[in-house]
Amino acid sequence: MILEDNYGRKHDYLRISITDRCNLRCIYCMGEGGVKLLDHDSILTYEEIIKFVKALVPLGLKKLRITGGEPLVRKGVENLIGGLSQLDGIEDIALTTNGILLEPMIDKLLANGLKRVNISLDSLRPETFKKISRVGNVSDVLKGIKAALKKGLNPLKINVVLMKGFNDDEIYDFLKLTLDNPIHVRFIEYMPLDGHDKMWKERYLPLTVVKEKAVSLGFELQRAEGIIGNGTAETWKIHGSQGTVGFINPVSCHFCESCTRLRLTADGKFKPCLYWQEEINIRKAIDDPVKLQELIQYGLKMKHEKHRMDLENPIAETGSARSMVQIGG
Ligand code: 5AD
Ligand code: SF4
Repeated sequence: MILEDNYGRKHDYLRISITDRCNLRCIYCMGEGGVKLLDHDSILTYEEIIKFVKALVPLGLKKLRITGGEPLVRKGVENLIGGLSQLDGIEDIALTTNGILLEPMIDKLLANGLKRVNISLDSLRPETFKKISRVGNVSDVLKGIKAALKKGLNPLKINVVLMKGFNDDEIYDFLKLTLDNPIHVRFIEYMPLDGHDKMWKERYLPLTVVKEKAVSLGFELQRAEGIIGNGTAETWKIHGSQGTVGFINPVSCHFCESCTRLRLTADGKFKPCLYWQEEINIRKAIDDPVKLQELIQYGLKMKHEKHRMDLENPIAETGSARSMVQIGG
């Protein structure tokens, strides 16, 4: 048995959202008042998450990413990482974080088997960072990045959601970061994710603007391959740089064809695709590995060939009813 869908895609990668809570309130992710939070009782326990992963390993699951909300706000996340890293067959455990709590927590995360982090950072400027995140201080994230570099975490990726009028004047600064540091900056197109995003129309920018900017600055871009976990990013390198520049184009250019990812929400719903509504409640089968495997195979057969988010029809009716903070990216 392998985790294969109707289009021949084999899945070896699971993104696990462990909380829908976050210590930031980024404007592209949630409205001013946040989202309606899940009851504590409906959130999977760490034991349940481990049982789920264990059931999928024999089907070919190898790589895990812990997401949120913000995963570092959930108590004891290092214990979950510790438990998961002891499972035979799991080769890679990464974390996507906004980096605010990374510096104080990095030692215990690494001691428990965390291999890599992706840090979301949309601006290097304190005022812009505050405008986008509504509440955060960029200095906390920068401390997290420094700590990750110091510990030699590699590859260290930084995710930048590009938004017109917010951070498109910082393209140079982010490119420069890859010149001087072993950092992989990945620009992400802003997605109209929760299905009613009025702001999207005004703020969306295709990532071709980044390439154009790089060229106009005289940076020579060359293709770079082989950065671990870069399935969805098209990766380039500025001549002579230590790091790379990635482009994640979910809107202007589907990468669904090569999708190998599965998702588990904090409340125990298996999602074969980020963008479609289909979800399967796996909690009721959590003590029965065979039943879990059947549910996942069944869910995989519902996975669509690709999402319907594109420039003509960005806010598809079929899109997920959850916002990013509820799915975990
Ligand atoms: N469009 C693009 N990226 C988003 N993210 C969250 N919401 C959106 C959106 N609407 C990104 C975060 C983080 C990753 C988990 O997803 O910045 O890097
Ligand atoms: Fe995979 Fe769905 Fe994302 Fe496409 S939209 S890359 S199919 S998860």
